[in-house]
Amino acid sequence: MTYLVTDNCIKCKHTDCVEVCPVDCFYEADNFLAINPDECIDCGVCEPECPADAIVADSVMDPENLAKWEEINRKVCETGPVITEKKDPPDDWEEWDYVPNKYEKFGIIPLKETDE
Ligand code: SF4
Ligand code: F3S
Repeated sequence: MTYLVTDNCIKCKHTDCVEVCPVDCFYEADNFLAINPDECIDCGVCEPECPADAIVADSVMDPENLAKWEEINRKVCETGPVITEKKDPPDDWEEWDYVPNKYEKFGIIPLKETDE
């Protein structure tokens, strides 16, 4: 059981989530944060902190979405640094809030993989 960061974090990246995680398991990409599923203790405190509603429990995701976002979160955690302090979101975050399919449009930088 874990929580995962999903599409609406991309290019919004508020980082409120990192301040509350008791086990410091958020990792940073340029345009996204990820949760390490092997370190998350499933406490759930980060979920309501995200202004973009991007943090989702794996137990409520459909199987296809779960597989996709678990792989993305894992990949970011393999290379990205741990982040524990909030920083300012991108200047243009409002422009991208709730724009659908941001992963397919922009990928995760530096992950850069898209389905296109
Ligand atoms: Fe951290 Fe808890 Fe969120 Fe997991 S559910 S990422 S342990 S705050
Ligand atoms: Fe992303 Fe939400 Fe955290 S936008 S950085 S998951 S607070």
